[in-house]
Amino acid sequence: MGLIELSGISKSYVTGDVKTPVLHGIDLQVQQGDYLALMGPSGSGKSTLMNLLGLLDRADAGSYHLDGKEVTTLNASQHAEVRNKTIGFVFQSFNLLKRMNVLENVALPLLYAGMGRAKAKLRAQELLGQVGLAALGHRMPNQLSGGQQQRVAIARALVNSPPVLLADEPTGNLDTATTEEVLGVIEQLNREQGLTIIVVTHEIDVAQHAKRLVRLKDGRIVFDGAPV
Ligand SMILES: Nc1ncnc2c1ncn2[C@@H]1O[C@H](COP(=O)(O)OP(=O)(O)OP(=O)(O)O)[C@@H](O)[C@H]1O
Ligand SMILES: [Mg+2]
Repeated sequence: MGLIELSGISKSYVTGDVKTPVLHGIDLQVQQGDYLALMGPSGSGKSTLMNLLGLLDRADAGSYHLDGKEVTTLNASQHAEVRNKTIGFVFQSFNLLKRMNVLENVALPLLYAGMGRAKAKLRAQELLGQVGLAALGHRMPNQLSGGQQQRVAIARALVNSPPVLLADEPTGNLDTATTEEVLGVIEQLNREQGLTIIVVTHEIDVAQHAKRLVRLKDGRIVFDGAPV
């Protein structure tokens, strides 16, 4: 069984009296160690699907097995627990805390989880090393380039050792050279640590780094295969 198994997943948003159907019967299997790019026009449902995958929102219908467990029937606090253990998130905006240095930003999820300061800083330093920023832990976020800030955000997302990284347009704010730097880190985490990765992107150049490309159109999967 895959690490992620979606079957017949549908989702609508309701605002006032208006119901907007967004996802229609999505079937998707993702194996451990997969590196998948998710593409599709604006409004096709990419972020909606990522939010469902990350247990930030719930589907109206269908089943979702994550690491062998049906998660659609779990309540919100159970979702949070599974999410914290299983999923790391990265977004287009880096969302680093301005008043904390880089090391403290990366260590923060561990402190929230109750780990002691010294141990958390050691672990955070290890993650900074993995994203190639071992020497910059003392800097403040605004003293880093965009690509470096996104690598810090990746380190923070992975500090709890989740098996899955979900990245929604992680290079959307970056120029070409910096995009390559961030993609290099993502690729290395997939190759060397078997991290399962799903990346939303509008750029085929970004998708070509992945092992697999899934295209959404109007809330349906219209392509699933090698990125070409
Ligand atoms: N919270 C919400 N309430 C109502 N409608 C929403 C909500 N979030 C998204 N939508 C609608 O759902 C559809 C899919 O949105 P979604 O954000 O998943 O698209 P996307 O593929 O990520 O687009 P983009 O490439 O622009 O980020 C759109 O029509 C959007 O307007
Ligand atoms: Mg989106």
